Formats: sequence, structure tokens, C-alpha cells
Amino acid sequence: MNNLIEKRWSPRAFEDKAIEKEKLDEIFTAAGTAPSAFNAQPWRFIVGNKFQNKSVYEQIFSTLAPANKVWAENAPVLVLTVSEIVSSYNGKLNSTAEYDLGASTAYLSLQALELDVYVHQMSGFDTAMARDIFNIPEEMKPLSVIALGYLGDKNILPEALAEKESSKRVRKSLNEVVMIDGF
Ligand SMILES: Cc1cc2nc3c(=O)[nH]c(=O)nc-3n(C[C@H](O)[C@H](O)[C@H](O)COP(=O)(O)O)c2cc1C
Repeated sequence: MNNLIEKRWSPRAFEDKAIEKEKLDEIFTAAGTAPSAFNAQPWRFIVGNKFQNKSVYEQIFSTLAPANKVWAENAPVLVLTVSEIVSSYNGKLNSTAEYDLGASTAYLSLQALELDVYVHQMSGFDTAMARDIFNIPEEMKPLSVIALGYLGDKNILPEALAEKESSKRVRKSLNEVVMIDGF
């Protein structure tokens, strides 16, 4: 397996250290190289940086579900992802806008890890609140918040979460997901 894919996991303990601007630029550039239907590139990223634009960071943080707030406060960067679900090109629904955003966040995650920056994606956030705070228009859909940062010491976490940091990654077996001849 590819080394970065093997290395990737979603931590909750992040170091209290800024991510260099050059690294962030590289991470978002990589996200933008993902494939998308008709090359529409529907992904958008609102970046809240604790060390740079704390107010945006706090606005994104305020939308998180309480269980995510417990650990996400450690991350130096929180990104609100948004996808353009109505095409600005022809005004029609883009049925793959969410699929494409997912591809770009996968690229983002692996590029980040190449630079030792870890990623933890979250769907546990208030989409209506995010829409309101950032004036997100109807044609766009907020889809996730992504925490980014250098790996931190798990002992900064409450005990139950600290334990999860070293738990084994569980995955379905190949024959559960690769369907030889349909369902
Ligand atoms: C779209 C999406 C939403 C997720 N939402 C949350 C979340 O709200 N809170 C959380 O702690 N983890 C969340 N996760 C992380 C998953 O729980 C995690 O990726 C999964 O358990 C596999 O673990 P791994 O990433 O460490 O391999 C989310 C992941 C994805 C891709």
C-alpha cells in the first residue's frame, strides 16, 4: 500500500504549533488538483487559522458539535468545506459536487501528511449556522469541517479520547466492499 495511505489516521491530539503558510498553500494546491466531473472544481475552503485569523477560526469552531469541540480546539487550523451544488456554468444541479469535494479532501489529507500535517474531518457541525455566519449562498453546500495540525501528545486529551488515539483501525474486509457480480 502507498506509504501515506498507510500512515494516515484521524488524530484528536494536535500540537499547539502554527502550520507554515507555504505548507498550507501546498496542501490547498494539492486539493485543487483532484479530478471532478466536467472539471467543475466545485470545492471551496474557508480557512480559519488560530495563529493568523483567529476570528474566522472561532467562527468555524462555534459551529462544531460539542463532542468535536472537546478535541478540535487543539487544532491550529479549522477549514470549513463547501461545494458548489448548482453549477455557475449552466445553472443546473451538479450531481457530483459532493463526490468531487470528497475527492479533493482526500488529496488534501494525503498532501498534508506528506508534510507531517495530520487531518481530522468532521461532519458533526451545524450547517445552518455555518451558512449564516459565512453568507453561504443556496447554490453552495457546507459539507464538513476539517481540523489540521501537527500530531500532539495524546495526554492533552480527556482520558477516554486519549485511549482512542492508540486504538486499532477497523475496516471492512475486501469481500464486503468489492462486489463481484452485483448485490
Ligand atoms: C465525512 C466525515 C465525517 C466525519 N465526522 C467526524 C466527526 O464529526 N467527529 C469525529 O470525531 N470524527 C469524524 N470523522 C472521522 C471518522 O470517524 C474517521 O475517519 C473514521 O473513524 C476512520 O478512522 P481513521 O480516519 O483514523 O482511519 C469523519 C470522517 C469523515 C470522512
